[in-house]
Amino acid sequence: MEVSVKKQKCDYEIEFASKSATPVDLKKEAEFLGYEFEEASAVHLRAFKKILVTVNDENDAENFKLGAAAAWDILRALDVKSASVKAKKSALGAIAEGFLLGSYEFNKYKSKPKKPREKLIVLDGLAARDLEQIQAVCGCVNFARDLVNSHPDEIYPASFVEYVKKNLKDLAITAKVLDKAAIEKEKMNALLAVNRASRHDPRVLHLSYKPKTAKKRVVLVGKGLTYDSGGLSLKPSDYMVTMKADKGGATAAVAAIMAAARLGLDLEIHAIAGLAENMIGGDAYKPDDVLVARNGKTIEVRNTDAEGRLVLADCLDYAAELKPDLLIDLATLTGACVVGVGEYTIGVMGHSAELKNRALLAGKNSGELTADLPFNRYLKKLLKSDVADMSNVSGSRYGGAITAGLFLDNFVDEKLKDKWLHLDIAGPAYVEKKWGYNPSGASGAGVRLLVSLLKDL
Ligand code: BES
Ligand code: ZN
Ligand code: ZN
Repeated sequence: MEVSVKKQKCDYEIEFASKSATPVDLKKEAEFLGYEFEEASAVHLRAFKKILVTVNDENDAENFKLGAAAAWDILRALDVKSASVKAKKSALGAIAEGFLLGSYEFNKYKSKPKKPREKLIVLDGLAARDLEQIQAVCGCVNFARDLVNSHPDEIYPASFVEYVKKNLKDLAITAKVLDKAAIEKEKMNALLAVNRASRHDPRVLHLSYKPKTAKKRVVLVGKGLTYDSGGLSLKPSDYMVTMKADKGGATAAVAAIMAAARLGLDLEIHAIAGLAENMIGGDAYKPDDVLVARNGKTIEVRNTDAEGRLVLADCLDYAAELKPDLLIDLATLTGACVVGVGEYTIGVMGHSAELKNRALLAGKNSGELTADLPFNRYLKKLLKSDVADMSNVSGSRYGGAITAGLFLDNFVDEKLKDKWLHLDIAGPAYVEKKWGYNPSGASGAGVRLLVSLLKDL
């Protein structure tokens, strides 16, 4: 599918209207077909060569995105080469986004992929520059979806790095790669412990984007578990499926810096991906092990499935040396977050209310759902350990998303406490059924939120 702003004659028209503003003839035909004018839904009016999309609340850009995705579901199957969009000018950007995200398909593993017929969507009235920006961001979201969807025998730490490097062409981003020896030299022992039973070596990927006039420095840190079996605290079979998506945080960080470079944002940005595979075997790290993290703090391992926080612990400490003005980590960190806020929502944590509000606002502006999860002193105490500085899991079954965030807090430099945000994307990173303009599988969660937040800095 392609989107264009160039006015031209098309085979079909996609018309966006509220129920009350829908032209009478179209309305009659739609009613005859049993269409109920539900918000952000679409109906095929074959006799008119039209797809009608209902948007009643025009103040919510999400309605236009969802409406476009609904229209795409109809258009996709039709033998129609081009369709022009009829909608109010201010909605065209959202509509473009809905088409670009809603038409994503992942079929690289199908031996006979159904080839979608080539189609052109014409958005006459949208500024070419605006479309370019939307394409840049959506392209990076779809890049993230592709990478997260790729299976774990294809994407392991070293191949994750290669996959990303291949996609950095023509971007002003430099890549530094820490291999196992370099990670050892950095004393990232917690990360190394998590990866120990894997047949693949770990990596830390450090991407930098440094425009000359940048006045602020942002560091993104991502959990990149290319597979999370749970380790010796093995996951039950049903919970292990989809754990290829445990690299969603690292992927979002990488995709966001790529988007920032494409947009030419005037910010220095770093993306640090902690890449490891959590496996079992004679060499596996164990419950009862005590690890010494990069910052010198000791951790009693009580559950090897709480591995993401161990990888992030070392990466957050590494990140502090870059002296960021803003430090954001992203991770598919806890099942508790999914239980707490549902599978479509990002959990937002941190010490600074102001920063958290920025993230919530960026969620609103970009169309990603967020929920503020508040820290408190009592939850912090649940991480106490008798044998080490802290345990890697809480002593309570409650509040698991927040206690995971509070675990990370131990590895955030004192000077950075109010500059740090933690985003738990465990729910939306990977959902096994289609939701709105997100396909079944990886959604690219976090990318659009980050871009929006960075743009507004
Ligand atoms: N990768 C998982 C979290 C997860 C769960 C992501 C579901 C996406 C969907 C993480 O490493 C994990 O296993 N966390 C444990 C922590 C527990 C042992 C304290 C969890 O959530 O159960
Ligand atoms: Zn785990
Ligand atoms: Zn994990």
